[in-house]
Amino acid sequence: MPETALPAPLHDALLALLGPAGFLTDTTDTSPFCTDWRALYHGRCAAVLRPATTEECAQAVALCHDHGVPMVPQGGNTSMVGGATPDGSGRSVVVSTTRMRRVIAIEHTDLTMTVEAGVTLKAAQDAAAAEGLLLPLSISSEGSADIGGILSTNAGGNNTVRYGNARELALGLEAVLPDGTVLDLMRRLRKDNTGYALRQLLIGAEGTLGIITRAIIQLQPAPRARETALCAVADAKAALDLFAAFRREDPSAIQAFEFMSGVSMALVNTLVEGASLPLEQPAPAYALVELASPRAGSSLRDLMEDVLGQALESGLVSDAVLAESETQRLELWKLREEHAEAQKRAGASVKNDVSVPLPAIPTLIAEATKACEALIPGIRVAPFGHIGDGNIHFNLVQPEGANPETFLARDHDIMDAVAAIVRRLDGSFSAEHGVGQLKTYLMPSWRGGAELTTMHRIKNAMDPTNLMNPGKIFPPDRGTGHKILPKLPT
Ligand code: MLT
Ligand code: ZN
Repeated sequence: MPETALPAPLHDALLALLGPAGFLTDTTDTSPFCTDWRALYHGRCAAVLRPATTEECAQAVALCHDHGVPMVPQGGNTSMVGGATPDGSGRSVVVSTTRMRRVIAIEHTDLTMTVEAGVTLKAAQDAAAAEGLLLPLSISSEGSADIGGILSTNAGGNNTVRYGNARELALGLEAVLPDGTVLDLMRRLRKDNTGYALRQLLIGAEGTLGIITRAIIQLQPAPRARETALCAVADAKAALDLFAAFRREDPSAIQAFEFMSGVSMALVNTLVEGASLPLEQPAPAYALVELASPRAGSSLRDLMEDVLGQALESGLVSDAVLAESETQRLELWKLREEHAEAQKRAGASVKNDVSVPLPAIPTLIAEATKACEALIPGIRVAPFGHIGDGNIHFNLVQPEGANPETFLARDHDIMDAVAAIVRRLDGSFSAEHGVGQLKTYLMPSWRGGAELTTMHRIKNAMDPTNLMNPGKIFPPDRGTGHKILPKLPT
């Protein structure tokens, strides 16, 4: 039985349009779509719509729009900030892209992939790899996260340091707007200055302006040489110095440069099956470096050994291990990719997905550690992240044996303390995860004035009745969450 019923004419029209596989109303079927990966939010919905094509999606959205039913776009449901979870009213429908799973074309002359929104990032990477190409975006949740979701949230991840965020990779886009109009921006041009770049408005809008249904993604030649090393370092300052040493020699070779604190790495080693630290002894912190080149037999090994040799000699790095095979490379990456999972297994955690200018990273870590330890004695400070692009996941895990609910009740205290430091350092409170519903409360103080006003105006213009992913990005209206946003003075 559905949790709340849709009006009968809408129910019948959606069922006729989408068929039983595309229209789920039974709570057993819909409940997985109403809880986020972190299990922080437990919403309700009237139905889950699973269109198989853009046309079905457009017609379903038009029907919901005409009946005033709020819609929550959802991809692989891997949001870290509750960005794809419906609220508790049960009035909304979730619009899932999971049945739009076609890789439509791979084009070798301009190195592009045309793909539907529901293709998982991993499936898209594999399709590119099968053609000798690289889809240069890599995130821990790539097995489930889909193309529509990564574009809607402008995902970053491990290769931003070299190729940029999702935003930089999308040449073309198609989206269904809140009234069901299909916005076709499927152009594959590197140069196109014909007015506003509307695709960039949809990218990173977290589904508040429409549902991304297809995209044209820029690919790269696949690397044929790779060198990967895990290095033991004293702290983030040493990791940054090591990053600078590689950059001085050849910035174009750096494919990824990641940071992991000793506390966070210890959780991976203890809680993740098959993870084991290939160094003599645990270190206070680690850097994972990957160099890559499309040129087979390139001199990456020399570069890696030269830089690490000097770093070991100067004491910047105290120990290091180089992957000698693809299996070892994947084992090193497992130690990085499993941080989110390990922290989940360690109990409740508060995530601060922040970015600051590179020189400020050591201060951020030192000051935020002090502030959080003062707030909650025994708190486990477990930062890690994409240090090469300035993005640190300053995550805090509950004290051992503490009550998870009691710990989570302090989430705003923790986020506020970290945010205050990040603000002083000219950073951002959301680097790559988005605002979702978790961080909406921070928006007025961070993006106040002309910036938030302009965002409101755009939202009002494109979704005047606030039906598309209500309650996300914008601060709650303290009402039902579905009210029209206040009109702003013109
Ligand atoms: C990652 O880089 O693994 C995720 O974005 C981070 C997180 O769990 O905070
Ligand atoms: Zn990340």
